[in-house]
Amino acid sequence: MSRVAVVTGGTGAIGTEICKALAAAGRKVAAIGHPSESERVAQWKQDCADAGFEVHVELVDLADHEAAQLAMGSIESALGPVEILVNAAGITKDARFTKMSVEAWRAVISTNLDSVYNVTQPVFGGMLERGFGRIVNIASVNGQKGQFGQANYAAAKAGMHGVSMSLAYEGARKNVTANTVSPGYIATPMVDAIKPEARAAIEAQIPMGRLGKPEEVARAVAFLTADDAGYITGVNLPVNGGLFISH
Ligand code: CAA
Ligand code: NAP
Repeated sequence: MSRVAVVTGGTGAIGTEICKALAAAGRKVAAIGHPSESERVAQWKQDCADAGFEVHVELVDLADHEAAQLAMGSIESALGPVEILVNAAGITKDARFTKMSVEAWRAVISTNLDSVYNVTQPVFGGMLERGFGRIVNIASVNGQKGQFGQANYAAAKAGMHGVSMSLAYEGARKNVTANTVSPGYIATPMVDAIKPEARAAIEAQIPMGRLGKPEEVARAVAFLTADDAGYITGVNLPVNGGLFISH
């Protein structure tokens, strides 16, 4: 069905594959990226059109509450009510805790976690009223297990699942589901940026012996946002090649 789907971080590596998968499922897709990337994103939008799917784009700093709310309003004016929301915008600012600046702490919490409130809160009430909604928060294996050098990131990602679990209860009677997808290490520039020795040590621990692919994360998002996925809510679905297996 031609429902409106918003993907924050939709212009990024994993977000692009999520946009593609949702468009293939017949959704009207809007992507949100950061204003600093306007030139690259103009080309990105053209590339999507060339590949056969149109994406509405908004560029806004999602850490800014008012600006994020306005962007969600513009999307609804352009495309209609938001029925599917995927929160995939995120950054890392890794450092051992002894060296972690307050700026690095705040930037990661506000971009990765406050943004979830900033875009979800304005559309959640509408989902409840209309009796349909699918929310997916893209967290991380490191929000489940912690990681050396990622106290800020792990806190934000664990917090995202706290939001999913709470909204799952609030949406349950109204066919509004809220779930988390927790990717492991995916072949993207974010992982390329890890120091080679640290990256090699991490890769050696992945039971499947390889990094994940962005489309493998998108597959999980398409599954959880399907119209007939309405009995699955509050889950944290790992896509991590076995890096962290828990019950
Ligand atoms: N466990 C235990 N000790 C560790 C360690 C680990 N995982 N990593 C490093 N150390 C130790 C080193 O052995 C070293 O010890 P000594 O001082 O006794 O020799 C000490 O910590 C310093 O190590 P570094 O030189 O690495 O420290 P640094 O301050 O230069 O770098 C760091 C710290 C930037 C956090 C670096 O360790 C790093 O990049 N680690 C990987 C972090 C990571 O996984 N980031 C994921 C980014 S991608 C992403 O986030 C996507 C996702 O969701 C999965
Ligand atoms: P990416 O390519 O860097 O994409 C990040 C996206 O977030 C980009 O679209 C970026 O917009 C957007 N963004 C960042 N800060 C923003 C802000 N303040 N306002 C608006 N948009 C902002 O990273 P990725 O690898 O695809 O990761 C996507 C998500 O998956 C992140 O939440 C990440 O934490 C999570 N994740 C990644 C991995 C991995 O291995 N890569 C693993 C687990 C979880 P611009 O492109 O316009 O800058």
